[in-house]
Amino acid sequence: MTERYGDHDYWNERYELSDCPFDWMCSYDDLAPNLRMVLPSAHTMPSILVVGCGDAPFSADLYLDGYRNTLNVDYSDVVIRKQRGRFPFLENNFQVMNCLDMKEIDDDTFDAVIDKSLIDTTMCYANGHDTTMQLYRELSRVLRPGGRLITISLHREIEVLPYGIDNPACSFAASSCALAGTRENDTCYSFCVFDKLDGCDAETAAVISSVHPIEFIDAVSWDSRGENEKESNGFIDELLVSFNYALEAI
Ligand SMILES: C[S@@+](CC[C@H](N)C(=O)[O-])C[C@H]1O[C@@H](n2cnc3c(N)ncnc32)[C@H](O)[C@@H]1O
Repeated sequence: MTERYGDHDYWNERYELSDCPFDWMCSYDDLAPNLRMVLPSAHTMPSILVVGCGDAPFSADLYLDGYRNTLNVDYSDVVIRKQRGRFPFLENNFQVMNCLDMKEIDDDTFDAVIDKSLIDTTMCYANGHDTTMQLYRELSRVLRPGGRLITISLHREIEVLPYGIDNPACSFAASSCALAGTRENDTCYSFCVFDKLDGCDAETAAVISSVHPIEFIDAVSWDSRGENEKESNGFIDELLVSFNYALEAI
């Protein structure tokens, strides 16, 4: 079943069938304390790219929280059409795009990129590891030097961090934590922050690196969350539970 998450037609069919907006894993409100801490101040009008935005209310919530200079992209034309209709004030901020090859976006463009669970999908592609390495290469490319990538994932930090840190195409300073899910049956998700050092001079790179490790708000210990965490097959079980939970909610 999970291999379908790497299938473009699967997502279009799913979005055709559903008119119910859904935030995977957690809502904007759940993330807001940490997001506001790690994003540049909204007053500076930072440019923010949200990749694999899906039908989540997250993009609108980010905008309504004061982050007005955003671009929200997904490769499903169906979901982008629906999001534009749902949030007319954001119509021009939604675009169809394949995040593995964002030809439409120049190098070094964005102050911040937010990946909320796109990484969980690319890991399910037939060639999941290489596809996710490619995704991080692309996310790094569109970030300006010193820009910040934030990844929120169903996978643990130790499974997410290597895509940025052990990726020959990227140079990032990183911090991460686990946050507790607030929905029924929810477990944890990871919150990882990567600062792009590529293109920075040595002095700037040292200043950027010095903010790590970041002290996150309300971080938890992953293993403290319920018996299911201690079962074998850890994250894949958890991924399936969360995906099934999401499907049931539609
Ligand atoms: C698990 S959903 C997450 C949706 C949303 N970010 C959220 O948190 O609720 C993954 C989304 O990634 C999109 N997606 C998958 N592969 C993609 C790609 N190569 N480029 C752009 N979007 C992609 C899917 O269409 C889907 O909307």
